Amino acid sequence: MPSSLKRSRQLLLLCLLLAKLCRSNGRGYEEHYPPVARQEFLPVEEVQTGQCNKTVAIYEDVSTPSVTAETYNKPLTCWYEFRPNGAPSSDYVIDIRFKTFNVGRVHNSTTCRGGYVQIIDGNEETPVTNHLSPGFFCGEMQNSKNFISETNSVKLIFHVDNFTEGTYLSFFSRTELTRALHKRYGKQPELYPGGRRGDPVHQTIFDTDRFPHSVTGSGTDLLVTFTSSPAGPLLNEGFQFSVGSVPGKRDTQGKLSGLCDWIFGARRLRRSGQSSGQFSSLAHWYPANTTCRHLIRADSGQRVRLRFTSFRVDPITAPLAADDGDCAESLAVYDAAEPRSDRLLQLFCDTFSAPAKSDPILSTGRTLLVLFTSRTGQ
Ligand SMILES: *[C@@H]1O[C@H](CO)[C@@H](O)[C@H](O)[C@H]1NC(C)=O
Ligand SMILES: *[C@@H]1O[C@H](CO)[C@@H](O)[C@H](O)[C@H]1NC(C)=O
Ligand SMILES: *[C@@H]1O[C@H](CO)[C@@H](O)[C@H](O)[C@H]1NC(C)=O
Ligand SMILES: *[C@@H]1O[C@H](CO)[C@@H](O)[C@H](O)[C@H]1NC(C)=O
Repeated sequence: MPSSLKRSRQLLLLCLLLAKLCRSNGRGYEEHYPPVARQEFLPVEEVQTGQCNKTVAIYEDVSTPSVTAETYNKPLTCWYEFRPNGAPSSDYVIDIRFKTFNVGRVHNSTTCRGGYVQIIDGNEETPVTNHLSPGFFCGEMQNSKNFISETNSVKLIFHVDNFTEGTYLSFFSRTELTRALHKRYGKQPELYPGGRRGDPVHQTIFDTDRFPHSVTGSGTDLLVTFTSSPAGPLLNEGFQFSVGSVPGKRDTQGKLSGLCDWIFGARRLRRSGQSSGQFSSLAHWYPANTTCRHLIRADSGQRVRLRFTSFRVDPITAPLAADDGDCAESLAVYDAAEPRSDRLLQLFCDTFSAPAKSDPILSTGRTLLVLFTSRTGQ
């Protein structure tokens, strides 16, 4: 190959290399220091630097500040106060839509580690407020989430121990008419008529996997209270239920004491002009170690005849206390007034019982005892 041609090819190669180098340098420069004119074409969010310690106007997009060399990996606390300007106080509440959220992590369902958000709803002057113990939210949110306040004065606190690009919060807020909300969710005074709280609940349920599918109360009132842990994620926690009524089964011919101890006497039956009565068991939701005694007492010269009109003993699906023994729940029929083992006529257990035959059970004496025992509750 002639040396001149070889040289010109080398030169060409050099030029190409230089051109490439030159172009890439140019682009690099533009990326790091974009000319001011180009910023106009960026979406608004990317230009916003976020805010800290700010009174937020309703309908304003707000986000936590961008990380800077001074704030990187250092603690950061920001508050945001909501003031719906001009609105008469009690007519409005605030609806905050959290668009992005990544602050700290929930630790053993009770504490936030690394950072948290607090929502302070109300103050000393509002009818309700949580300002004395506001609770903590933390974790990462996948979908946007709405918070609806109960008052028209809300303060949000954002805190992280180490501020990085991975910790952020952004939200948008608007006002809602209080009476429009009442239509959707009901008013508290309607939930607790006259502020009456009723009798204590039989059991407290902690785990969703042990929650009964339905609950039938023993009377006309049922109160459900929900207590959350002091810290948790801003996710789909909570509950939803529907309420219906079932026809009450009133054991009118008997005398009740305690939760479910009954005495059915022949005299009381006669007074009501009947020769037979009916009783039914607790539907469900009774505590562990529940016993229910149904004592049937005939007059002298009489015997007791018992017939099950409906009977079902199911394996326990939602035990409230662990028990791996047989017969954790049983229904026993004694030919006596006391549960004497030598007088046991029939025993039905959750683990092995078939439906009871419709044949009547007859006592030899004046009394018959039907005893329900549950070691687990459900
Ligand atoms: C915001 O205010 C709180 C107290 O009101 C303060 O501790 C915090 O440092 C402030 N944050 C900034 C970034 O100024
Ligand atoms: C959860 O963790 C905190 C902090 O480590 C600890 O104080 C608390 O006792 C723990 N609670 C439970 C229920 O494990
Ligand atoms: C947070 O910052 C502190 C102090 O700079 C440091 O000791 C700690 O390791 C940091 N934690 C994380 C998770 O980066
Ligand atoms: C039920 O009673 C048994 C025996 O008396 C006792 O060992 C058990 O702890 C009780 N269970 C509950 C939940 O009270």
